[in-house]
Amino acid sequence: MAGRTGGIPENVIDEILARNDIVSVVGQYVRFTKTSGQNLFGLCPFHSEDTPSFSVSTSKQIYYCFGCHKGGNSIHFIMEVEKCTYIEAIKLLAERAQIQIPEPEDENYRKEAAIRDRVREALVEAARFYYKNLMSERGAAARQYLENRRISPQTARAFGLGYAPDDWSALFRHLRTAGFSEEVLAQSGLFTKGKKGDLLDLFRGRLMFPIFDVMGKIIAFGGRIIGDGNPKYINSPESVVYSKQRNLYALNFAKSSKEKRMIIAEGYMDVISMHQAGVTNAVASLGTALTDRQLDLLSRFTEEVVLFYDSDAAGQAAALRGLQMLLARGKRHTASTTRISVAMVPDGKDPDEYIREHGADAFRALVQNAFSVMDYLLYTAKRQSSTNGKFDARTYQNLACTYLSWEPNAVLRERAANTAAAVLGVSVTSVLSEAERISGEKSSQEQAEESRRIERQQVTVPSAPNSGETASRPELLLLCQLAGLGPLYTELPEKPILSDFTPGVCRDIARDALILLESGKFDSLSLMNLCEDRQLNGRPAREVISELLMRTQSIKNKDRRLFYLLDSLYRLRLTVYSVKKNELAALIDTMPEGADREAAKKNLLQIADYLRYLRQRLKEVQS
Ligand code: CTP
Ligand code: MN
Repeated sequence: MAGRTGGIPENVIDEILARNDIVSVVGQYVRFTKTSGQNLFGLCPFHSEDTPSFSVSTSKQIYYCFGCHKGGNSIHFIMEVEKCTYIEAIKLLAERAQIQIPEPEDENYRKEAAIRDRVREALVEAARFYYKNLMSERGAAARQYLENRRISPQTARAFGLGYAPDDWSALFRHLRTAGFSEEVLAQSGLFTKGKKGDLLDLFRGRLMFPIFDVMGKIIAFGGRIIGDGNPKYINSPESVVYSKQRNLYALNFAKSSKEKRMIIAEGYMDVISMHQAGVTNAVASLGTALTDRQLDLLSRFTEEVVLFYDSDAAGQAAALRGLQMLLARGKRHTASTTRISVAMVPDGKDPDEYIREHGADAFRALVQNAFSVMDYLLYTAKRQSSTNGKFDARTYQNLACTYLSWEPNAVLRERAANTAAAVLGVSVTSVLSEAERISGEKSSQEQAEESRRIERQQVTVPSAPNSGETASRPELLLLCQLAGLGPLYTELPEKPILSDFTPGVCRDIARDALILLESGKFDSLSLMNLCEDRQLNGRPAREVISELLMRTQSIKNKDRRLFYLLDSLYRLRLTVYSVKKNELAALIDTMPEGADREAAKKNLLQIADYLRYLRQRLKEVQS
């Protein structure tokens, strides 16, 4: 946590937050049209919508948008709305409240920021090195390869393409000589660790593609093998400057295109070919399924998205997943205005090959004639239910109705149902009711989930195992409840302890939270502070926490507050210990007879005892 504040003392930040009431800060940008309890609602400034899903809590001093999931305190709001850094936002708010900020002192912060800056510089220097190599004798084969693929030297230059020599330490030596420390290089994502802990060039004998962020700064690289071979591409890992799921390749170029649509392709080469041909409104998701973050990013620049994936099976599967995401997103945003269509290369090729062979006009025609989402899905259903020219109506029916159920818009759904009905030779009504059955199954499931969400005690599926970022909903809920407890903390008959929280980020937050609680200084704002620069379950921690804070009621009655908290605490422990018990029981089954096994059995009995105790306590608080 140290460092996020740019050396600005904690108490100054508290002061800044205290003197910048969230309602007045947000009120400069948002008109509130509705109140509900202590929450104000208005249209979200971060995504387009017709019904207000953006909320501000006066009591908790946070905001959260139920549509686009942005959330945080006043500082985060300014960051988001002014597209500035944490420090810049603090400075802006300090000015607004006429507070003087003392000069930064925090050593850790300076160090981290300095490393990030140096990593960025190292990446730029690496790109220069790769470019020089491409232009040198060593790069002859790579240049020839580009020529074969009809990439002009100007395009190569514009995209900063380069060549990584086939050498385990060429880049390493170059960057060391240029004055970069091993500490910096180790964090650059350009090297792997050898057996002795030494740094080895990650990219060797490859055509290099710098990956830029939206501002055009180099944050990572992709490297393609020259010719055939495996793996075809290698990409930089996530690093202090690179978050894969928050980035779209070539958005830095595409964002200034005058076109109102944005084309999303799969690969480096697709996008480069498009830009070279003058189709500059194109970005690439780089072979991954689209993420919500990428769509957030894109929605700042465009309201119309054309998916243009390879026509091979992998590309089509990725397109299908992307669509499902986009449609689900449409359901969440009450009035999402991102229009979607799907373009396809007719002859089984990818966009890169097509534009090279047929030119920009033919390519634009493909984009112009892109399928609407429903047409595309029905077309896909048809293809998926035909094997060797034989059409299976049963499969088609299942697929078509499932796809129909994804469509949130009833009119569009009905129109598509007509097509499906015609194919099947049945009535539109039966197709629609089947689709509704499928979506009803899901939505009642979703509703049940939603309503059980707060009290649900299920451990959430970790998004990235062992990343140390995972946290279950119950423990997060517990943190939020603790933040609303105030001086009542001392009256808790049983207090949360560190081991109630999942090791990693969540426990780190809890550690500080418990200390603050003891000194009576823990509230929703300090919780928000602890989230800074931290990730939970694949999202910024502050968004996860502000969502939960917003969803939990501010309860006035103090007994009820204590009751809810204990209820959470016991449930959380019940889940954790039940899992432990099952794991231990399974382990015991595999153990040979002996002292260890006896000890484990004893332990199992203790856990069972404790579980009984917890169930008893839970019953008591509930009665
Ligand atoms: N990709 C990757 N790793 C691989 C294969 C693919 O990261 N082993 C990513 C790359 O970003 C690539 C994209 O997925 O650009 C699409 O993959 P593919 O269609 O196989 O590559 P193309 O872009 O068509 O590359 P090329 O035309 O050079 O073969
Ligand atoms: Mn290709």
